[in-house]
Amino acid sequence: MHDEVIDSLKKEFIEKLNKIKDNPSLLALKGEFVGRKRGKINELFKQMGKIPAEKRKIFGQAINELKSFFEQELKQFERNLKIGSLSQKEEDWTLPGYKIDIGSKHLLLQVMDEVIDIFLKMGYHIEDGPEVETDYYNFTALNIPEEHPARDEHDTFYIDYEDRDNRYLLRTHTSPVQIRTMLKKKPPLKIIIPGKVFRKDEPDDTHSPVFHQLEGLVVGKKISMADLKGTLTTFLKALFKEDVQVRFRPSFFPFTEPSAEVDVMMNGEWLEILGCGMVDPAVFENVGIDSEEYTGFAFGLGIDRIAMVKYKARSLRLFYENDLRFLRQF
Ligand code: DAH
Repeated sequence: MHDEVIDSLKKEFIEKLNKIKDNPSLLALKGEFVGRKRGKINELFKQMGKIPAEKRKIFGQAINELKSFFEQELKQFERNLKIGSLSQKEEDWTLPGYKIDIGSKHLLLQVMDEVIDIFLKMGYHIEDGPEVETDYYNFTALNIPEEHPARDEHDTFYIDYEDRDNRYLLRTHTSPVQIRTMLKKKPPLKIIIPGKVFRKDEPDDTHSPVFHQLEGLVVGKKISMADLKGTLTTFLKALFKEDVQVRFRPSFFPFTEPSAEVDVMMNGEWLEILGCGMVDPAVFENVGIDSEEYTGFAFGLGIDRIAMVKYKARSLRLFYENDLRFLRQF
């Protein structure tokens, strides 16, 4: 009688095994026959107690044999399934998908885009120039000759390459693109130049060896300091808020005359965020524009400083450390 039980169980197992096509049903079959909780083998073991003592040993052996038969068959089947398993796995649509992290725009680029948008609405268009620049465009053409003290603040990284006329360096500001554009295009001009700039500065809360500027240049007939002040005030009110506190301070830049710096009030302190001025006639001369006929104004904004003010960041370093706990907030 017990042999019959064993035989019919074996038969049932083989029939079911032959119908298995994938891993989940194989697992179910495993549970049904050799599962620890309600597996059929275990049920048989539980019945041992009811069997007359003299038959118990033989029955026990038979169950054990059956058990290892099941296990072997299952293992073998699993192996075969694995060999041809790839397509099986792909067909299991119930598996959870991969989460794709799409990331987001860095805060500095968000601010850059916001600044660009305001100027585009005011009718400016975008120009671009190289980050590896020549000494001539970065300094000399902007009226900063060799040995000029203004070069001190613009110490930078030099490229280990020179040709007959030029030393190559990482540009210290976006102003050289003013020169490149004026050599290429005739006035009237109304352009902005967004980009990365470099200086040999120790990183601290307000300095970084890499930072971002947006340069502006307007060249036309009868452009005046009033245009400059009106433009920049309008811009700052659009960027911050209508009642933002702004001050223009007289300053010096070799490529503008007169020059000014603009500060914005932040946490009870003035923070310098841009330089500006009327294009110096010497610069016009370097690019072949007649300064009797044309005048213009220029400005250079520090994007990182603006981001600090706008988002009340205590240190510029937060923008470059790539700490996601900071960046994810924006
Ligand atoms: N290039 C200057 C700097 O990085 C900033 C600047 C000042 C740009 C005045 C200008 C300007 O166009 O008119 O320090």
